[in-house]
Amino acid sequence: MRNGFILLLFEIIIIKSLFLNKISFLKESLKSLKTSGTIIPSSRYLVSKLLKGINFKLARLIIEFGPGDGKITKDLLKNLHPDATLIIFEINDSFYDTLLKIEDKRLIVVKESAASVEDVLKTNGFDKVDYIVSSLPLTNIPKPITATILENAYKSLKTQGYFMQYQYSLTYYSALKVVFNGNVSLGFEPLNIPPAFIYTCQKE
Ligand SMILES: C[S@@+](CC[C@H](N)C(=O)[O-])C[C@H]1O[C@@H](n2cnc3c(N)ncnc32)[C@H](O)[C@@H]1O
Repeated sequence: MRNGFILLLFEIIIIKSLFLNKISFLKESLKSLKTSGTIIPSSRYLVSKLLKGINFKLARLIIEFGPGDGKITKDLLKNLHPDATLIIFEINDSFYDTLLKIEDKRLIVVKESAASVEDVLKTNGFDKVDYIVSSLPLTNIPKPITATILENAYKSLKTQGYFMQYQYSLTYYSALKVVFNGNVSLGFEPLNIPPAFIYTCQKE
């Protein structure tokens, strides 16, 4: 009975994902599966759990790595403080063009790898970040680049700042614990395809 209910929920999520304006995400992701890491955008359950810990009243600079077609970006903008800034990093040309169409003066869209976070902050006149939200497919990115991304993300955060990342496996759990000196808590969202782990990492 319980399994049947869960299966039904997954079917609903698949149908919604595939047929409600998600065909373009599917097409683009299939073209570059290695860098996209999935063919289906995050479910609203995953997005909501991923962003749950953000204090939008206080946050003035948030960064997103790997926005894809902007599912998480739109939720971030819905809650973002009027005086805050959101900088998003996307390397895929087609997703980048889609993201440029979001009209919001608090949003800065950059076609740069997440590895360049420090340079981009400097260029745009910012210093440290309150939150970094990442849906990068860490396991598909070459290890040295992932190491640079995590190291630079850590350096860019304010003290007490957070790095939030979802992944479909626990592969990067220990690496994140090393970067964040053990300050990593683990969450799980079953209502996503595939189900996902959420790492919430805090800089000391
Ligand atoms: C799993 S998709 C996430 C899409 C969306 N945020 C979501 O959760 O539905 C990962 C995205 O990361 C982007 N990406 C991969 N490597 C990147 C990098 N080094 N810097 C910035 N974006 C990257 C891909 O192009 C893709 O859009």
